[in-house]
Amino acid sequence: MTTRVHRLPDDLVNKIAAGEVVERPASVVKELLENALDAGARRIEIEIEHGGKSLIRVRDDGAGMGADDARLAIERHATSKLRQLEDLESLVTHGFRGEALPSIASVSHLVLRTSEEGASEGTEIEVRHGVLVHARAAGHPRGTTVEARDLFGATPARRKFLRADSTEASHVAEAVTLASLSRHDVGFTLSSGGRRMVDAPPTSGLGPRVFQLFGAALLDDLVAVEGGEGGVRVTGLVTRADRPAAGRGTLRIYVNGRAVRDRGLARAVTEAYRLAGAGDRRPEAFLFVDLPPSLVDVNVHPAKVEVRFADARAAWLAVERAVRGALSAGARNAAPRAETGRIEAGRYAERQADGSAVAAEPWRLDFGTTEPAADGTAGAAPGSGPERPERLILVLGQHRNTYLVASDGDELLLVDQHTAHERARYEAILQRLQGRTVESQRLLAPLVITLPPALRAALEDQAEVLAALGFDAEPFGGDAVRLASVPTLLHGRDPATAVAALLSDYLDREAADWAVSTARERLAATLACHSSVKAGHPLPREAQQAIVSGVFAARHPTLCPHGRPTFVRLPREEVTRWFGRVGWRRQ
Ligand SMILES: Nc1ncnc2c1ncn2[C@@H]1O[C@H](COP(=O)(O)OP(=O)(O)OP(=O)(O)O)[C@@H](O)[C@H]1O
Ligand SMILES: [Mg+2]
Repeated sequence: MTTRVHRLPDDLVNKIAAGEVVERPASVVKELLENALDAGARRIEIEIEHGGKSLIRVRDDGAGMGADDARLAIERHATSKLRQLEDLESLVTHGFRGEALPSIASVSHLVLRTSEEGASEGTEIEVRHGVLVHARAAGHPRGTTVEARDLFGATPARRKFLRADSTEASHVAEAVTLASLSRHDVGFTLSSGGRRMVDAPPTSGLGPRVFQLFGAALLDDLVAVEGGEGGVRVTGLVTRADRPAAGRGTLRIYVNGRAVRDRGLARAVTEAYRLAGAGDRRPEAFLFVDLPPSLVDVNVHPAKVEVRFADARAAWLAVERAVRGALSAGARNAAPRAETGRIEAGRYAERQADGSAVAAEPWRLDFGTTEPAADGTAGAAPGSGPERPERLILVLGQHRNTYLVASDGDELLLVDQHTAHERARYEAILQRLQGRTVESQRLLAPLVITLPPALRAALEDQAEVLAALGFDAEPFGGDAVRLASVPTLLHGRDPATAVAALLSDYLDREAADWAVSTARERLAATLACHSSVKAGHPLPREAQQAIVSGVFAARHPTLCPHGRPTFVRLPREEVTRWFGRVGWRRQ
């Protein structure tokens, strides 16, 4: 058996982007997936417990390692993928630093079992937090299994930085999602606590893979990108220009097969939407940018999530034009999709349109006033009046379909229609949560929707709060979720899209600064946000008045739950001064 793994010479080691690659369970999973893919695996199974904190297991059917290679593999700077720096210019593997396995072994209890094709026996290596326990012969089918337990168990300070199990599981799910999008020909499964989160058998293209991971509703909204120039090829799928932006989309960009964060390319995508007349939005995008390896430097970030282009402008232009081309081709270019027998999210709207589903009726809350629906229509809501005595605040009009100009007889008020509505709505939801009187709307027929893995994790983790908020949603096997009721607040919206947008927003904002702290409050805030009128919507006068009265009747009227202001006052003296009316006589 020839030894293929070797230690890199020191001078080469010094030229390789150094740094910590293990930040959280998802980073371990990312590295192990890349190793499995580099080893030519066709099927990869991932299991985690407690979000990966107590166990991460990645099993592949790749080439495996002989005993000597396996022993070397856990040493620092030992790799089979690079011999000299120039090799980076023609690199086809994910790995090249020889750092991932030893890094993982130094912060976990690692057991690696592996066997090569035709070998009579396999090898087992055990390392506890950096200390080799044993290396011995052991049975294993061709391929490799790496188990990392008790992550950061010996470094409590680092363990402290890990988030809730569900959050870590979501990050793991995203790592698996990213890898599986880059290699649709490889099968991936992910189980968390025995529950299947990803089930993506090998398939024939990106479209079917997106279908496996996200369901048909998303796929229906995508258009194929196929283009490029100047030696840069750009392919993938992006949200069609004519689809309403359902929350903030996720840009997943790959450069030569590596998922990267690249602000420049992200901006190229948004610019393409703007130029295509699709406005200022952040679409869903799965983009693969391919160019000769000699024109991209992958050796700039330890976890290789950033790259440097020899000609960044060429890459930018290629992406912008390819996406713009796809958007203008629009409907002619529907994304390839797989067959499905499921009722998918996008279908709901159609079913509603023919009147078979719940009738449109504006939802309402007891603000003691007319409560506008998210689409701006006003609904007559009886309800009791606010308890506190209220100064009459009169709405004068709407500015740029976004701000409400009002007067309390003394001061001028500029009210943000979205954040103001959101604040009032948020307090009402919390109040109802407390009294367990959140209104829920039973769907005529339960919907089976598909949710991406990360969102499913959030859904399961927050099941109790979601139930209290009026969602009746339960796992339905695989990536399916059965939705029987939604909060009445969301009435009139496609429930599947609403659920997905709500959860992704909730996860997205988890890291952000919140004016509210518990998961329950944050979900209530996200629900409030999604059920409030948006900026840019013309509103009838009654709706404008309802929002303004609503926010000034709120307990904490000044900020929305995400901490943005709801209104500003223009003090009388200020206005007076602007017009040179100083002195009482001239007021
Ligand atoms: N799943 C696997 N199957 C076969 N060989 C593997 C596997 N995982 C690791 N190896 C071998 O062990 C070596 C060390 O892996 P490690 O991830 O530490 O470094 P690398 O992949 O070479 O570089 P990087 O640190 O950039 O990931 C690899 O070069 C490869 O030869
Ligand atoms: Mg590696």
